[in-house]
Amino acid sequence: MTQTIFADTESTLETMTLQNLLTELDNGIYTVTVNRPDKLNALNQSTLNDLHEAFRFALVNPEVKGIILTGAGEKAFVAGADISEFTELDAPAGSNFSATGQTIMREIELSPKPVIAAVNGFALGGGCELAMACHMRVASEKAKFGQPEVNLGLIPGYAGTQRLTQLIGKGKAMELLMTADMIDATEAHRLGLANHVVPADQLILKCKEILLKIFTKAPLAVAEIVKCVDAYYAAGVDGFNFEISAFGRCCATQDFKEGASAFLEKRKAKFSGK
Ligand code: COA
Repeated sequence: MTQTIFADTESTLETMTLQNLLTELDNGIYTVTVNRPDKLNALNQSTLNDLHEAFRFALVNPEVKGIILTGAGEKAFVAGADISEFTELDAPAGSNFSATGQTIMREIELSPKPVIAAVNGFALGGGCELAMACHMRVASEKAKFGQPEVNLGLIPGYAGTQRLTQLIGKGKAMELLMTADMIDATEAHRLGLANHVVPADQLILKCKEILLKIFTKAPLAVAEIVKCVDAYYAAGVDGFNFEISAFGRCCATQDFKEGASAFLEKRKAKFSGK
């Protein structure tokens, strides 16, 4: 079971104090930018806490329909967990460090609203893990991915061994994890780690284009997709049965009635999220 350092607070934009994130809410899109460019946006504990706060805000705020996660500056998405915070780690502290990070990655992964990582540069270690916790990854041509923890005598701790294997398969995951090799955006795309590769100046545009398309769909159905796909990987959960229940839940929504009627009446559906 994971542990958490986070206070269970009701997040609002007014009460949130985010030290290491820039946030912007525009047209339903909440853009969250990790903002430590002088440290290549390395994830220290304070930044993890900020991410938790930002995603809680996104969850409860009805104006947020989708999220883009990116890094400040031209060089890095996130170059890993902050290695300067590693010096005090022993076995219990290390497990707690890993569990805390996994908790926030899981919050992102289970977001009922779509989350896209806009990978603008180095996505290494915890940065690659953060990108993999998002529902999709759009990479700029300058992006580089890797899990270099074995260089430090470590392994990924924010579920990188699990999500990389899920995304690219066992053999390639073993290779990247054991060699610490860095791969470019084209290779990440070829392996299925990146959904798209675009020129750097079109990165956010591409993410917005995907989100705006999703915003025209039924939000509750989109949220059920997140849960159903997650069920494929969840221990002890029969994803097929899960889908049967989720399909039933969708049938009970107003949006299903609206979607089906709109099709039959040859008009565009107007979804309400109910
Ligand atoms: N944690 C803490 N600080 C980091 C960091 C990390 N993961 N990654 C980069 N930084 C810091 C550097 O220490 C440096 O800080 P300084 O200017 O105060 O010395 C600054 O960010 C710039 O990094 P630098 O190494 O000078 O840039 P570079 O272009 O020469 O190299 C990388 C870029 C990404 C190859 C290199 O920074 C690197 O290997 N980072 C660590 C990656 C890693 O192992 N991540 C997994 C951690 S588990």
